Amino acid sequence: MMAILDDIFSLKGKAAVVTGAASGFGRAFAVAMAEAGADLALIDTNPQGLKQTVELVRERGRVAHIHVADVSDEAAICAAFKGIDESFGRIDILVNNAGIGERFRGKIHEYPSADWKRIVDVNLNGVFYCSREALRRMYAQQSGKIINLASIWGMVGGGFLNAGGYATTKGGVVNLTREMALEYAPHNIQINAICPGFHRTSIMDFGDPQSQGIVELMKAHTPAGRLAGAEELRGTLLYLASSASNFMSGSIIAVDGGFLAR
Ligand SMILES: NC(=O)c1ccc[n+]([C@@H]2O[C@H](COP(=O)([O-])OP(=O)(O)OC[C@H]3O[C@@H](n4cnc5c(N)ncnc54)[C@H](O)[C@@H]3O)[C@@H](O)[C@H]2O)c1
Repeated sequence: MMAILDDIFSLKGKAAVVTGAASGFGRAFAVAMAEAGADLALIDTNPQGLKQTVELVRERGRVAHIHVADVSDEAAICAAFKGIDESFGRIDILVNNAGIGERFRGKIHEYPSADWKRIVDVNLNGVFYCSREALRRMYAQQSGKIINLASIWGMVGGGFLNAGGYATTKGGVVNLTREMALEYAPHNIQINAICPGFHRTSIMDFGDPQSQGIVELMKAHTPAGRLAGAEELRGTLLYLASSASNFMSGSIIAVDGGFLAR
């Protein structure tokens, strides 16, 4: 690596936890952090996907451990972090990436309670459970970094897509990021969020005809006029995970083809 990259973007010797690491952004983040030198603890509900991510990490010469757990299951997350204590003994980086999209596409007055509770449980409560476990360790260390995956829909309403549940949870993630950043900045723990625009991942079934309508709408509303790939978030992630961002906390970074600039 070039000297400046080695100096400020290196993750050599770091232990990183990624939730939702079995596909999409989570896999791209795990591989990127391994290439930068980190060892990984990978959490997801999908064991097959996790195995593939582990192979990609190991091919890059780094250590990777699998923890099959649902981020909305408090006991399972506590157990996963205990496992990480045994394997790494510290946590330098947590990427709260696991999340689900909107199952129900309709107005709030018709929204089924079960769908509402599930999306809040995964997208918001899951971030809380994982952050709390990580912060207990980072507070003891007096160092660490947390990166939360929010969304453009955490900054504005998702009205034209009827994304009421999703937008609510991502708005919660944005303000949880700010709250945690303020509480832990004095303890050398930096906490930031990324708000991606529309990227091609497994979060949506792109073969489904209803998805095509959403793709066209999103292209029309995105100044760059296109969707992005999961790999296009790697640079932002590495910046927030590395010492390059040591004086940055509570920032909410849009990577959205200009969507939020309107
Ligand atoms: N793709 C986009 O356009 C986009 C835009 C903005 C924000 N995001 C956010 O990015 C994050 C990653 O999503 P993605 O687009 O890579 O989707 P994805 O579906 O490809 O990946 C999400 C991963 O999270 C896992 N997961 C889902 N529920 C889980 C749970 N309860 N416990 C543990 N793991 C669980 C899935 O198994 C999957 O591996 C999500 O938080 C999503 O809301 C995505």
